[in-house]
Amino acid sequence: MPDASALVAQTDPFALVRELEGKHLIDGKLVGPATGKTFDVLNPANLQVIGQAAEGEAEDVDRAVQAAARVQKAWAATPARERGKLIAACGRLLEQHKEELAKLVALETGKALRTESRVEAGVLADAFVFYGGLASELKGESVPFNPDMLTVTTREPIGVVGAIIPWNVPMMLMAFKIAPALVAGNAVVVKSAEEAPYAVLRICQIMNQVLPKGLFNLLSGFGPECGQPLVAHPKVGKVTFTGSVEAGKAVYRTAAEKLIPVTLELGGKSPMIVMADADLDKAVAGAIAGMRFTRQGQSCTAASRIYVHRSIRHSFVDALKTKVDALVMGDPLDEKTDIGTIVSQQQFERVKSYIAQGEAEGGTAHRCSALPADAALSQGYYVQPVIFTELKENSRLVGEEIFGPVACVLDFDGYEEVLQRANASEYGLAATVWTRDLHTALDATKRLEAGFVQVNQNLVVMPNLSYGGVKHSGLGKEASLEAMLEHFTHKKTIIFNMQ
Ligand code: NAI
Ligand code: MG
Repeated sequence: MPDASALVAQTDPFALVRELEGKHLIDGKLVGPATGKTFDVLNPANLQVIGQAAEGEAEDVDRAVQAAARVQKAWAATPARERGKLIAACGRLLEQHKEELAKLVALETGKALRTESRVEAGVLADAFVFYGGLASELKGESVPFNPDMLTVTTREPIGVVGAIIPWNVPMMLMAFKIAPALVAGNAVVVKSAEEAPYAVLRICQIMNQVLPKGLFNLLSGFGPECGQPLVAHPKVGKVTFTGSVEAGKAVYRTAAEKLIPVTLELGGKSPMIVMADADLDKAVAGAIAGMRFTRQGQSCTAASRIYVHRSIRHSFVDALKTKVDALVMGDPLDEKTDIGTIVSQQQFERVKSYIAQGEAEGGTAHRCSALPADAALSQGYYVQPVIFTELKENSRLVGEEIFGPVACVLDFDGYEEVLQRANASEYGLAATVWTRDLHTALDATKRLEAGFVQVNQNLVVMPNLSYGGVKHSGLGKEASLEAMLEHFTHKKTIIFNMQ
């Protein structure tokens, strides 16, 4: 293994940006884009330009995919456990860099350091160590086909995997894609989100100290100009994508022309059902965690439709307002801050327009927490958390993913009615039910149309739990052994005729 100590931890995020800006990482090296074009990356807390990012286009994509294809066969021929050990070693290496990664991602995304960015950086090692340990599970089967023939299946890597990631949890979502892909014997080319190019590039740089050159390449750039050529490249055999439904469909269409498999993690509008007999304190805490208020609600799993039984609705809303009010909005890098900013102007305007529409429709917007008083943050993309009541079920706010700190609290009278309303969504990512009644809980877990259902708790995302939705929430699963086997390998059937 090469000397891993070469790259020292650097906790000044601006120094890291100076080192990484304007670069892709291709074939083991930081390199500028073929066109020389770059774009600005902003700090969403004060709108200052942090630095430039390389604007990748088709030529950069080709260089990265060719580098990946050159090294992939040798990597696939490396014993699986050796691959696993190297990926687990990457996890341990990232652990030494977690504070710098936390600061870097807080700077570029506006996610509060203490409540969000440090938590994200803290789970990276776990994902790589988990998948590293699963390498010897890349097993096939023997099939009782004919007593004179030995019939077996093997798991083979796909080749070069293209990964397109978003900005909301860029490091963790990238880890959940590349760790299983690499352990399974593939090489990867990642395209980062334009809002958050640096923390993931730093991860790539750190891992490239120990991985063979070309195995893990990272490009920055925009969706149509850099993401699409990656999906379309003839040597990319699989694409894994997380983002909007619209972009996911565009990725799927391009992949269909090549008949390659895709995994899509798209949006959600996850219901939370609070029955009359629920433990109110736990349900309120679950709503705050589930809504991801500390991440400005920018989560695909956000529990953004909260159905509360009419009998407890007022006490629930009052308790929720009090608790959300106590969260402190401020500079993402300040240790006192609970809630940072929205990521970009596009998302800021989008979230504000939903809030305005909800009020115009007659909804009541309970605004919580105070905007930061610091003049340096006055231009930042801060939005106060909003708890909406009095919305109609057919409101756009109840039907569409807002991806902001907006919780729609709706009341209900009967269980069958609320189940029907919870399922009447184009999405099906997650759902929760809060009750002390075992029969209701069991029945709801069977009947809620979602990829992930939890009872009396919210939001557990772990590398060993399959994660993914039904309906417009996506295709395929991430995390767990299942994701590595089903989505990053193909099964080969082999027959030896012994006669
Ligand atoms: P987006 O889907 O446009 O961006 C996500 C990634 O896809 C980025 O890397 C982007 O460059 C890439 N991309 C965009 N268009 C593409 C295309 N045609 N081909 C290939 N790649 C493409 O999402 P955006 O604009 O950042 O956010 C819009 C909405 O999407 C949010 O309000 C939210 O509802 C949803 N979203 C959901 C996420 C999730 O975790 N499921 C994450 C981010 C956004
Ligand atoms: Mg977009």
